[in-house]
Amino acid sequence: MHILVTGGAGFIGAAIARTVLEQGHRVRIIDNLSSGFEANVPPGAELLRGDIREEAAIEKACTGIDVVFHQAAFKSVPKSLEDPVAAETNNSLGTLRVLLAARNRGVRRVVYASSSSVYGDVEGLKTETMPTNPISPYGVTKLAGEQHCRVWTRVTGLSTVSLRYFNVFGPGQRPDSKYAAVFPAFISRLQRGEQVEIYGDGQQTRDFTFIDDVVRANLLAMSASGEADGQVMNVCAGSPRTVNLLYRTISQVMGTSAEPSYVAPRVGDILHSHGDISKARSLLGWGPQCPWEESIVKTVEWFRRLEGSPKPAPSLSS
Ligand code: UGA
Repeated sequence: MHILVTGGAGFIGAAIARTVLEQGHRVRIIDNLSSGFEANVPPGAELLRGDIREEAAIEKACTGIDVVFHQAAFKSVPKSLEDPVAAETNNSLGTLRVLLAARNRGVRRVVYASSSSVYGDVEGLKTETMPTNPISPYGVTKLAGEQHCRVWTRVTGLSTVSLRYFNVFGPGQRPDSKYAAVFPAFISRLQRGEQVEIYGDGQQTRDFTFIDDVVRANLLAMSASGEADGQVMNVCAGSPRTVNLLYRTISQVMGTSAEPSYVAPRVGDILHSHGDISKARSLLGWGPQCPWEESIVKTVEWFRRLEGSPKPAPSLSS
C-alpha cells in the first residue's frame, strides 16, 4: 500500500513510518520540521517538507495514497497555553485540511492521533463513552480534530479511526525542547547530573504507554474492519503510575540516588489519567504487550546511545 505519515519526522510518526516500511509498504512523509527532525526520516521514505495547513502541500501529499497516519501536531500542553492559536491552527484546522485532501484524493482510511487530554478532569477510569472535558487549549484542539474525523466519516463516508494516546514514551522521544515530555526531561537531566523537577507532589498519575504498543495499535487500525469507522478508542497501558514512581524507576535503572525537587503544579495539567482498553481490544484486537520496567530499560538505553551521538539540526520551534 501507499502510506502517508503526517509528522513522520517526529517521535511517533517516524516509528510508524519505519514499521510500515519494514512491512513492505511505500511511505511518504509530510513534515514542516517544526518539532521533528529530518534525521528521523527512515531510509526509503519520501519526505515532503511542507505544512498540513497549506492546501496545495497536503493535496500533493495525499495524491496516490491509500492510508494516512495523521500524527502531525502541535503537541504540548504548556506550550498550548502560551500559543493557543498555533495549537488551534495546527491541530484543528490542520486535521480538517488532511481530511479534505484525503477525501479529494480517494484515500481509503485516515488514522488520527488523538489524545487522552480530551478527557481533562473527568474522574475515574476513562472510557470512550464518557463526556469529554478538556482543561487545556491542547486538549480542546485534539478533541476538535477527533470531531472533524467523526463528522467527516458521517457526511462523506471517508473512513477515519481516532486513537486516544495516553502519554507515549520510548526510544526516539527527544529531550531537546523546553517542552519535552516527562521521560526525556527526567532522563536527560539525570544524565547531565542536574536535579529533576517534579510539578506538584508527584502523586499525579499517567497511563504511560510504550511506543511499540502505539505503533501496533496504528497498524491494526489501518486494517480494522468497517466497524471501526468513525470510532475513537483509548490506546494506553491500562495501568496508571505516579510521577514519583516514574522518577524512582528511572533513577533505579540509571543507578542514581539523587533527590528530585518539588515545584509548583503546572497549570493545565490533569491530575489522574487511567484509560479503559476494552474498546481497542474488541474493535482492533489490540492490547498492550510491553512490560513497564523492560520498556524503561529500553528507553534509558536509547538515551545512553543518544548521549554519544551528534545532535541533529535544531528544529524550528524547540
Ligand atoms: C502529554 C503530552 O505532552 C501530550 O502530547 C499528550 O497528548 C498527552 O500527554 C496525553 O497523553 O494525553 P502531559 O500529561 O502534560 O501530556 O505529559 P508530560 O508533559 O510528559 O507530563 C506528564 C506528567 O509529568 C505531568 O503531571 C507533569 O506535570 C509531570 N512532569 C513533567 C514533571 O513533574 N516534571 C517534568 O519535568 C515534566
